[in-house]
Amino acid sequence: MIEDRPVIQLDNVYKTYGSGETAVHALRSVTMTVRQGEFVAIIGPSGSGKSTLMNILGCLDVPSIGRYRFAGEDVSRMTDASLARVRNERIGFVFQQFHLLKRMNAWRNVELPLLYRRVRGRKDKALRSLQMVGLADRVHHLPNELSGGQQQRVAIARALVTDPELLLADEPTGNLDTHSSAEILQILRTLHGSGRTIILITHDPDIAATAQRVISIRDGEVSEGVTLTVAHLSGQPVPTTARAQRRRTRRAAAPAAVDDPRAADPSTAPPTDAPAPGPRPRRPRSRTE
Ligand SMILES: Nc1ncnc2c1ncn2[C@@H]1O[C@H](COP(=O)(O)OP(=O)(O)OP(=O)(O)O)[C@@H](O)[C@H]1O
Ligand SMILES: [Mg+2]
Repeated sequence: MIEDRPVIQLDNVYKTYGSGETAVHALRSVTMTVRQGEFVAIIGPSGSGKSTLMNILGCLDVPSIGRYRFAGEDVSRMTDASLARVRNERIGFVFQQFHLLKRMNAWRNVELPLLYRRVRGRKDKALRSLQMVGLADRVHHLPNELSGGQQQRVAIARALVTDPELLLADEPTGNLDTHSSAEILQILRTLHGSGRTIILITHDPDIAATAQRVISIRDGEVSEGVTLTVAHLSGQPVPTTARAQRRRTRRAAAPAAVDDPRAADPSTAPPTDAPAPGPRPRRPRSRTE
């Protein structure tokens, strides 16, 4: 049985950028719940509000109006330090562009979120996380010595190393070829099978179909239970070949590794009042359906 505890609860959330005539209403009246152990895809076309929603879910931004509760806690009442801790310890981020530090090898990249928490046994934890994504034989490789798919697996290992309550993946296969994309989606399915809560953001119906549940977003409004086709998203049917073409275009090189630690993913940003080291109670992982 899936544990029923909500990890995400958005209640009538609005996000508006700017004001007056130039105001952009990026999210409108968004109400949604994601429960522990669910694998949810959020799908929508460009400009529909996916990244805005992801930023709010990931505690990188706050709603203009409405309430966001993460694991039952009202995010708007949290201090900046508590928000930083949520990002660092309780949410794992995976992005289209990997955001690995290019001068650090795989296990050093994976270790990063633990560094700021002064956790003991960091290397062992990093190695275990890399093993989970099938990279036990690449732990000493630098990002530029790894394929795109392998780099994304390192990024997933880094997202998992803190044992987060939520894995948030924004277009994780956007820079990958078909084969590597399939590998990454398989890893997400396996993680879901072992009880992880996952939110996958994408504009691709084929990729959204990997998830257990699909939420659509369009013009900042979410809906569920809509049958997804490419036509639904673009307004007109798109032949498969055009879709394949778009995928190829998306694969066009984007910087996969960076030099500056501040450019790495939000979970590696140190909380301003990092807590004293100490064991955290382990959350239950097992589930049967
Ligand atoms: N910082 C900002 N200031 C003003 N408008 C913004 C800002 N960020 C996003 N927007 C606007 O909000 C709307 C939603 O943008 P968002 O980036 O969330 O879309 P998206 O679904 O992630 O698109 P894509 O698939 O292209 O990444 C767009 O109209 C965008 O122009
Ligand atoms: Mg976006």
